[in-house]
Order: sequence, then C-alpha cells, then structure tokens
Amino acid sequence: MADLTALTGQALEQIAACGDLAALEEVRVHWLGKKGALTEQLKALGGLSAAERPAAGARINEAKVQVQAAIEARRTALAHASIEAQLAAGRIDVTLPGRGEEHGGLHPVTEARLRIETLFRRAGFDVAAGPEIEDDFHNFGALNIPPNHPARAMHDTFYFADGRLLRTHTSPVQIRALQERGAPLAVIAPGRVYRCDSDMTHSPMFHQLEGLVVGENVSFASMKAALHGFLKSFFERDVAIRLRPSYFPFTEPSAEVDMSCVFCGGKGCRTCKHSGWLEVSGCGMVHPNVLKASGVDPEAFTGYAFGAGIDRLAMLYYGVNDLRLFFENDLRFLRQFRTFSA
Ligand code: FA5
Ligand code: MG
Repeated sequence: MADLTALTGQALEQIAACGDLAALEEVRVHWLGKKGALTEQLKALGGLSAAERPAAGARINEAKVQVQAAIEARRTALAHASIEAQLAAGRIDVTLPGRGEEHGGLHPVTEARLRIETLFRRAGFDVAAGPEIEDDFHNFGALNIPPNHPARAMHDTFYFADGRLLRTHTSPVQIRALQERGAPLAVIAPGRVYRCDSDMTHSPMFHQLEGLVVGENVSFASMKAALHGFLKSFFERDVAIRLRPSYFPFTEPSAEVDMSCVFCGGKGCRTCKHSGWLEVSGCGMVHPNVLKASGVDPEAFTGYAFGAGIDRLAMLYYGVNDLRLFFENDLRFLRQFRTFSA
C-alpha cells in the first residue's frame, strides 16, 4: 500500500493552495471522487490478507475524513473571502463630495406670474381664468368692439375656420368673470394671449395680466392707488406712475399707465428712450356697455379694469432687453433665473 501519510500531506497542500471553489472541487474529485486517489486505496484492500484489512481500512478512512474536513474548512474560508471581496468592492465612501444634482427651475415669466398672483391675493383679489380659444362675443362683441370696429384691426387676430379665435387679450375674462360671479368682484386673470406680431418687444404668444374691480363706489382714484401699490410691490422699489389719456373701446375714460424707468430712475436712458417713463399697462373705467353685456346693472355698479404685459414686467424686473429670449428656451439663458423658491 502507498504511504498514506505522504498522500494525505500532498492532498492537504493542494487544498490549501486552492484559490477558488472550482479549483477546490477539482481537488476533491482528484482525491475523494469515485476514481479518486484515496478511493483507489480502498479498492486495493482486496489484495491484503484478512488480518491486515481492518487496520488498513481504518487508516484509509481516517485519511479520507481528514482530507474531507480540510476541504470543508477551505470551502467555508473561500466563501467567506468571496463575500468580503464583494463587500469591499461595493463599499461607499459617504465622505466623498456628491456628484451634484441638476435642479430644474421655474421659467422667469412663470416666476413673475406667481409673484403677481401672490401680491394681488394679499390685496383681496381672486385669480380667474378663461379659455385661450375664444369666440367673437367674449373677445370683441361684449367688450364693445362690434364687427367692423377699427379696434379689431389693431389686434392682429389668429382665426379658426369656424370663426373662433385665439384670444388677443385677457379682457374676455372680464366678461366671463362678471357672468359667472356677478358684482361686486375683484379679480385678476393672468394668461396667454396671441397676436400675429413678432419683433424685439412683440411675441406672437405673450402673457397678459387682466385686472377687474366692480363695486358700488369704485373710482378712477382707487384704480390709480391699486396700480401704484402693485408696481411698487412688484419692482420692490418706490416707483412713480402717471396716467396718460388713451382709448380702449371697453373702458371710458381710458389711460395708459407709465412707470418711472426702473433702469435710470427717471433720468432718461436707452430703455426708456430718454423719456424717463416706461409704458406698462392699459386701464380705464369699465364701459357701461361691457357691464350690460355681462348682465351687470351699470346704474348700480361702476368698475375699473387694467391689462398689462406680464412678459414686459418680467423684462423690466430682470433687466432682459429682448422679449424673444424668454421663448427660445436656451438653457444658458434660463439657468440664470433658477431659484428654489416655488
Ligand atoms: C390690451 O390688450 C387691452 N386689453 C388692455 C386693457 C385691459 C386696457 C383692460 C384697458 C382695460 P394692448 O393691446 O395695449 O391692450 O396690450 C396690453 C399690454 O400687452 C401692452 O401694454 C404690452 O405690455 C403687452 N403687449 C401687447 N402686445 C404684445 C406683444 N406682441 N408681445 C408682448 N407684449 C405685448
Ligand atoms: Mg398699448
């Protein structure tokens, strides 16, 4: 019989040298498999005398048990090492600086609209809305602009084949709000409007802010105070305003609101064309015909209305000189206004 001590020593050496579970399995088959080196020893027992057999068999079994135990121990050690390696590879260093998250932000025009809504809500106004696809009655007729009225030409209207149109201003919301809520009321209606118009200060889609206050003793003076208060709050500085006579079919008397230039403080600069003033809104006392068309008694109620360009207000607030920048969606431009306020 072979030298069992030498064989066992050889097996243990090979087991210790195994670097992974596959190699260990090969070693196991080599020694303990059906045709393994130690298994073969048992087969050789037949060649021994009956007297020698029990002791030799016992020694072979002892060797097998020893090798088997060494394999199990190695298997456990290898499995443990593999888990340790996986843990080490997946380790996260929580003290490393973060990769950075890209935050979105609100569009500057949206930011301006939300600030405007907050300011007016604080003053007791409701926020109203109307459809962007309007009918002739709400956009023109009820606003005292009958067919063939010259004011229609100023609106550069986009029409649909069925006679409906993209609203050219937010004033139709005056009619809808009065029809739905009746008088007295105080609402603003910010929203998108459309005109076939495009240059540095005109965009085919832009935003207007409509204001409407109807009550028993609503005066031109209260309108002036409301507009002045709003502009001071919106621009966060003490601006001056002046009202210039103007004409709108749906207000009488009508005026344009000028505000002292926010860039030069009224001294005169390029933005205000050296006049010291910037036009920011149209306004006036609601025409009796508008109240009548909305089902409100013009003998019992008076009101004022105004319509400002939200994009223009945002341009002045942020110091942007070309309106079109707001609508090109160039991220390099938009990122400058990113805030985390909303
Ligand atoms: C009107 O649209 C009236 N509905 C405003 C009004 C309401 C007057 C209530 C009286 C009572 P106007 O066409 O002037 O008026 O437009 C109002 C404002 O919208 C302008 O002062 C300007 O700030 C802005 N605006 C007009 N056209 C454009 C345009 N193409 N692009 C950007 N802003 C514009
Ligand atoms: Mg105007």
